Amino acid sequence: MSISIRRLTPHIGGEVTGVDIRKPLSAEDAAAIHDGMDEYAVLVFREQPMTGDQQLAFTEALGPIELSGGTNLKKPEEYRLPTTFADVSNLDINEKPMARDDRRRLFAIGNQLWHSDSSFKVTPAKYSLLHAISLPSKGGNTEFASMVAAWDSMDDDLKSECEGLVCEHSQMFSRQQIGFFDFTEEEKQRFKPVRQSLVRTNPKTGRKSIYLASHAGGIVGWPVPESRIFLRNLIEHATQRDFVYAHEWKIGDLVMWDNRQTMHRVRAFPAHEPRDMRRTTLAGEGPTAEQIAA
Ligand code: OGA
Ligand code: MN
Repeated sequence: MSISIRRLTPHIGGEVTGVDIRKPLSAEDAAAIHDGMDEYAVLVFREQPMTGDQQLAFTEALGPIELSGGTNLKKPEEYRLPTTFADVSNLDINEKPMARDDRRRLFAIGNQLWHSDSSFKVTPAKYSLLHAISLPSKGGNTEFASMVAAWDSMDDDLKSECEGLVCEHSQMFSRQQIGFFDFTEEEKQRFKPVRQSLVRTNPKTGRKSIYLASHAGGIVGWPVPESRIFLRNLIEHATQRDFVYAHEWKIGDLVMWDNRQTMHRVRAFPAHEPRDMRRTTLAGEGPTAEQIAA
């Protein structure tokens, strides 16, 4: 059976059938998935129970992976999963939900802000693949917004204002928005801002997208309040309901998204209920903007 993809919404999302992720991926199926990502930006694979090793093998069949170390407030000895995975669960190393006031949890709930994975790294992520292992009784949908639809629907004046702009991204900027300020000196060093182009072009399709994330805290050369208002307005435009696909999770789902052409966020869910989600990530192909010399 070969891969087929059913469109989920007019602008974003496709549901894939005809592939078993636990089996080695043929070159033909890998190419169909990459083409599907270019077209739909988010692909949903339902009913795919798999081990971590199988998720990793599937991810590596699509390209080189990005490692997850150093991107949250956990110390290396507190990691529940190897750094080949981003642990986006609410669990500690003993598989228990973190306390409501645990600063590692308060940092992690920043994922409820619209973002693009690793936009705070010099080379940001290409695709993310998220697998649902256990789910809360309610809430916890993940929403995805098309940054291609957002770009296409901007007027020409706004497009030309955005072209050539460079933003500074840091996880400190996104967390400051939710009132989280207590970073240690070590964390401030680790979360130093990086630069990203505000407009990106998909090298395969030539389509443009606006590259936004709550991690963006300023525009190079602009006053900070003006940058923040401008970015906030762009995010508001880019996340209008018509451009969004909301995924209602079932255990065993795998959802893959293209961070270059989407933003995503998780919705709230009860803090004391386990939500075990494991992410593998494909590395991006390079920086999107020149960095300032260290
Ligand atoms: C992520 C993320 C959202 C979720 O994996 O990068 O933001 O639904 N996850 O857990
Ligand atoms: Mn994310």
